[in-house]
Amino acid sequence: MKIVDLKSRVERVILSNIAKGKFSLADRITRAFARKVYNEVIANLPDDEILDLIDSITGGLGYRGKELDPVRMSYCGSLIAWPEAIPPGGKVLEIGTGIGRTCYVATGWAKPSLYITIDNSPEILAIALYRNPISVYQKALSKEIVKICLCDAVKAVKLMVGTIKFDHIIHDGGPNPLRNPRLFSKEFLSNLYDLLRKGGSLSLFAGRHRGCQDRLYFMLKSLGFKVNTVSFPDAPVLIFHARRI
Ligand SMILES: C[S@@+](CC[C@H](N)C(=O)[O-])C[C@H]1O[C@@H](n2cnc3c(N)ncnc32)[C@H](O)[C@@H]1O
Repeated sequence: MKIVDLKSRVERVILSNIAKGKFSLADRITRAFARKVYNEVIANLPDDEILDLIDSITGGLGYRGKELDPVRMSYCGSLIAWPEAIPPGGKVLEIGTGIGRTCYVATGWAKPSLYITIDNSPEILAIALYRNPISVYQKALSKEIVKICLCDAVKAVKLMVGTIKFDHIIHDGGPNPLRNPRLFSKEFLSNLYDLLRKGGSLSLFAGRHRGCQDRLYFMLKSLGFKVNTVSFPDAPVLIFHARRI
């Protein structure tokens, strides 16, 4: 069976496990499928194609051109992950696993007890887990507390509401919210609000488009979040650090 056909079957099984709170099982299925994608699609690609693939799926991770810059990547990842908001033993949900940059920061700086991370790209998960250009990001994704779920975050989050609460949510769904409106809709952000315990925190990557940043800021305020704005030091990119009050 082709990988794309298998993907939709695998995603259905993962979503049904998420609905039952079986995150460890969803994680095991995700890793097994990512291994298959690695063997069949990723393993034989040259390094420059791997970088092109990472760029096209994630939209870039804070490095410039073809030169991977782990310092800049991890600095940007830190602003996005906002790890100092995670209480010891807290539960974290992440939208957008990518290659594990934000997971590395969040699980290295803070000490959460559970880190559920969702991504709908089997190719990026195959790279992240089995051919990651940054070895410490790969290592972070193998921690016992990290549960990776290959599925659409919009569907997963809907199923989780009413079954689990988080202390912190990292929403890193891509550099241009205009290209991925489902992940930045009021309905989706409202579901994230419902998934947070009172006092919990949300970090939302809002990209560089001024109109889009304004729209997201006012959406968060209207949902009842208290919002602080953080920016990259050398680019007009904003991240909103929001708290459920
Ligand atoms: C900017 S990247 C995440 C980077 C990651 N946090 C890191 O630091 O390495 C955005 C990710 O969101 C994922 N994504 C986009 N739409 C999605 C959706 N509807 N459900 C789940 N993941 C999605 C993409 O596959 C991509 O890997």
